[in-house]
Amino acid sequence: MNANASQLSLRKIPGVKQILLVASGKGGVGKSTLAVNIATALSGKGLSVGLVDADVYGPSIPTMLGIEPGSRPGSIPGHGNQKPLLIPFERYGIKMMSMGFLVDPEQPMVWRGPMIASAAMQLFNDVKWGELDILVVDLPPGTGDIHLSIGQQVHVDGAVIVTTPQEVALADVRRAKSMFDKVNTPILGLIENMSYFVCDSCEKKHEIFRSGGGARGAQEMGIEAIGEIPLEPAVNVLADQGIPAVVGAAESQSAKAIDALADNILAKLNTLSQEPTFVAPSINISGKPPSKTSKKSSLNIVSQ
Ligand SMILES: Nc1ncnc2c1ncn2[C@@H]1O[C@H](COP(=O)(O)OP(=O)(O)OP(=O)(O)O)[C@@H](O)[C@H]1O
Ligand SMILES: [Mg+2]
Repeated sequence: MNANASQLSLRKIPGVKQILLVASGKGGVGKSTLAVNIATALSGKGLSVGLVDADVYGPSIPTMLGIEPGSRPGSIPGHGNQKPLLIPFERYGIKMMSMGFLVDPEQPMVWRGPMIASAAMQLFNDVKWGELDILVVDLPPGTGDIHLSIGQQVHVDGAVIVTTPQEVALADVRRAKSMFDKVNTPILGLIENMSYFVCDSCEKKHEIFRSGGGARGAQEMGIEAIGEIPLEPAVNVLADQGIPAVVGAAESQSAKAIDALADNILAKLNTLSQEPTFVAPSINISGKPPSKTSKKSSLNIVSQ
């Protein structure tokens, strides 16, 4: 079955050539860390890259990119039939917008389905992304409203599923697969993060948990293993300092593994793509009418 065929009928984001989702069935497996590093690695390969932090429950990408707590994006006021647009932050050559900027941190809110869907769509439709070769989307853990609304409303080119070797049951990967199958999002492959341990003083691979178990199980589901990223203290330390490991520790095993993963992802996207990748001319945002969005939420673009 060609899953991409029905995805083609979905809405493309003007100017954005490809959209990649980073997902996992479980929390804390390193989705955000990998999304930041994959995006940065792709930017290092000369692509123009955007990054969406779609995690309502714990947006962490701004911290990982060193954005001051409390920062708010600027905006371009709307006029005529042109709606206002948020201006993404730019760090390490990538443009980034986070769900965290759309909510008031002082006002923790109870998210309801339509609000989540509407806020998530704002991240795609109400941001001045400009011309992007690829937009990487960090999803919240699990399989919830955000996943479905993005899958149903946006033309997604592919998703990667992140797992860890200690995740004995493959039930989470299976759930993620069945969700993406439902919305016809092609799964590019499985990434095993924290696959083995790399210590500071030796080059030896320490397999604390049995590596590759997740990958073997996923293969049985028809999902290919496309990367094994080691557990390496530098990745965590640098993330806390707001520096992607592929920049701050470019020679580390993790950075090299992420760089190879980014190549694999590009190769997969190119294979799946029905159009020539990164070649097609893009559409001018300002010439487009406002998009149809679902029910309006109480979230507004912050004017400065
Ligand atoms: N390969 C790695 N080596 C060392 N530390 C890592 C690695 N990957 C992730 N971490 C650390 O693991 C923790 C969880 O990572 P991260 O926040 O990226 O996970 P997540 O899947 O996005 O979590 P959540 O489900 O809460 O969004 C972070 O402290 C991060 O720095
Ligand atoms: Mg996260």
